[in-house]
Amino acid sequence: MQEKMKIRHAVALLLLLQFCLNAVPSVASTSCPSLCQCFSATTVICSDPLMKAMPVDIPVQTTALIVLASGVRKITIQKCLGNLTKLVFLSNPVQNVSHDAFKGLTSLEELEISGSHLLALEAETFNKLDKLTKLLLNNNKITLLAPSIFDSLEKLETLQLRGNVLTSLHRDLFHKLYNLQELNLSSNKLSTICTSKLRKLKKLDLGLNQITYLSLNTFSGNPQLQILSLQGNQITRITPGIFSQLNNLEELNLRDNKITALNAGLFPSNLKKLTLRGNSLIQLSSAAFTGLHNLTHLDLSQNLLSSLPAELFQNLSSLEHLDLSENALQELASTVFRGLLQISVIDLQKNNLTSLEADLFTDQGRMSRLSLARNRLENLPYGIFELLDFECLLRLGGNPWRCDCDLTYFHEWLYYNSNTVEDLSQVYCTNPPPFRGVSLTTMNKEQLVCVNRSISETQCTINLATDSDRQCSLQEANGVIVVTCKLMKCTDLKLDVYFHQADGRTFDYTLSQPWSESVRCLNGTVILTV
Ligand SMILES: *[C@@H]1O[C@H](CO)[C@@H](O)[C@H](O)[C@H]1NC(C)=O
Ligand SMILES: *[C@@H]1O[C@H](CO)[C@@H](O)[C@H](O)[C@H]1NC(C)=O
Ligand SMILES: *[C@@H]1O[C@H](CO)[C@@H](O)[C@H](O)[C@H]1NC(C)=O
Ligand SMILES: *[C@@H]1O[C@H](CO)[C@@H](O)[C@H](O)[C@H]1NC(C)=O
Ligand SMILES: *[C@@H]1O[C@H](CO)[C@@H](O)[C@H](O)[C@H]1NC(C)=O
Ligand SMILES: *[C@@H]1O[C@H](CO)[C@@H](O)[C@H](O)[C@H]1NC(C)=O
Ligand SMILES: *[C@@H]1O[C@H](CO)[C@@H](O)[C@H](O)[C@H]1NC(C)=O
Ligand SMILES: *[C@@H]1O[C@H](CO)[C@@H](O)[C@H](O)[C@H]1NC(C)=O
Repeated sequence: MQEKMKIRHAVALLLLLQFCLNAVPSVASTSCPSLCQCFSATTVICSDPLMKAMPVDIPVQTTALIVLASGVRKITIQKCLGNLTKLVFLSNPVQNVSHDAFKGLTSLEELEISGSHLLALEAETFNKLDKLTKLLLNNNKITLLAPSIFDSLEKLETLQLRGNVLTSLHRDLFHKLYNLQELNLSSNKLSTICTSKLRKLKKLDLGLNQITYLSLNTFSGNPQLQILSLQGNQITRITPGIFSQLNNLEELNLRDNKITALNAGLFPSNLKKLTLRGNSLIQLSSAAFTGLHNLTHLDLSQNLLSSLPAELFQNLSSLEHLDLSENALQELASTVFRGLLQISVIDLQKNNLTSLEADLFTDQGRMSRLSLARNRLENLPYGIFELLDFECLLRLGGNPWRCDCDLTYFHEWLYYNSNTVEDLSQVYCTNPPPFRGVSLTTMNKEQLVCVNRSISETQCTINLATDSDRQCSLQEANGVIVVTCKLMKCTDLKLDVYFHQADGRTFDYTLSQPWSESVRCLNGTVILTV
């Protein structure tokens, strides 16, 4: 234990020394308090566990005083430190702050007491600190704050109280903080909040509290809000209209709540980042994100979505990053990503997709990342990746690839593009059984055959588009199906062939000139080999 403390202390000191690399230890070190270090003539750092009380001989010209991992339990500051602008206490066993501790510090701009055991502060603690712009009281054990404790801090711009045990805040607590821009109350036990007087507030973090409901006017007094975090609460429903005044809001974090549905038009139109990860969304209305022309990041991961309206992302013309991973998506409309011309990342991993449409990614020429990993894909349609940027990195592993004749497109694509697949070693066959576990890249094209597609299991229908009463016949030889039709001539012939297999799978071929390798037409006889 003792050893550990020493090591930690040494590491901390090392960090500080690096931090102050350019500072030369003061020559007048005789004036440096014992157990402290003085860098330059104005910066004093005390970081010794043996120091049990605050020194009383801190040089009067000191502008920055930092007490780190010391043994100090009670904060008192000697008089005459009128030039002190920065005072920081980090990781000290501080329990009490003398009510007049900061009384003479008329120049103080930044005060931090974090990582201590503070339970309470007296109402007059911050009186007269009228130059203070930054007050950080993170990771203490504060349970209650007197309603008037911040009343003199009219210049305050940043207030952080994260990691305490606040259960409620008096409604007048912040009412004099006219200049507050950043308020961080994350990791407390708050269930309600009143910030109605904070007209300049830009950043508000209420994450990791116990909020279940927010009333309509909660943020109506904070028109400048740019970043709002409500993550890790227990919100089940977003009150319609609650964000409608927030015309400057750019980032909204609603991660890890219990939201089940979203009304249309909930989100303000300038939003750039919206995080809904880890909620209970089952379905979305097609108008859920209407009008969010500036949205660049949308995170819908870890919800319960099994389908998406085809128009859901319509008009999100700035979208760059779309995370749909860890849902239960079973299929995607071929047009769902249409118009997302700026998109560079789409994450669809850990869904329940069994097939994809060939034209799903037609507008996604500039992608840099696409994950289809850990779905239930057995194959990919011909041409699905043709328009993707060749530098796009893909993840495709963890799908039950069926290595038969239908996989030839993907197999060939993989041959030329294997360097863009990040999880190549995870791309292996699940079926047919002889190839289970075989890496797709080690398969030969000739091995990708449909072995059991014999006539006995296959029903074939042929439509002759040009000449419907022609007779065709089927023959099987060595697992190869030959369709023969007697024709007057081979030109202008169009064949539609449907195979229905015993296992329910169907294959659909449309054949016309120019003939592919599998079709020969000679002397009025067309032969199709499958
Ligand atoms: C405090 O700062 C002022 C202005 O920089 C300077 O004139 C004065 O000498 C400083 N006081 C002390 C005690 O160093
Ligand atoms: C510090 O505060 C606690 C509780 O607020 C009190 O019990 C204790 O006596 C105080 N200690 C000092 C040194 O003032
Ligand atoms: C609030 O503090 C937490 C914990 O350090 C941090 O992760 C978060 O980004 C802060 N919030 C804002 C809005 O800066
Ligand atoms: C989106 O961003 C542009 C430029 O950053 C801005 O002019 C516009 O007002 C923003 N809002 C909407 C709704 O387009
Ligand atoms: C997208 O924009 C068009 C044209 O402004 C509009 O008609 C359509 O309703 C919008 N769709 C959605 C889902 O917002
Ligand atoms: C995946 O889809 C199948 C039906 O195709 C369904 O039975 C199964 O529950 C789905 N799995 C998940 C995790 O939603
Ligand atoms: C193919 O058919 C044979 C019998 O005709 C059967 O024994 C074999 O299991 C089948 N293989 C597959 C992959 O279905
Ligand atoms: C096509 O028919 C002509 C005349 O009946 C015959 O001479 C020719 O050998 C046939 N070609 C083939 C490839 O069967």
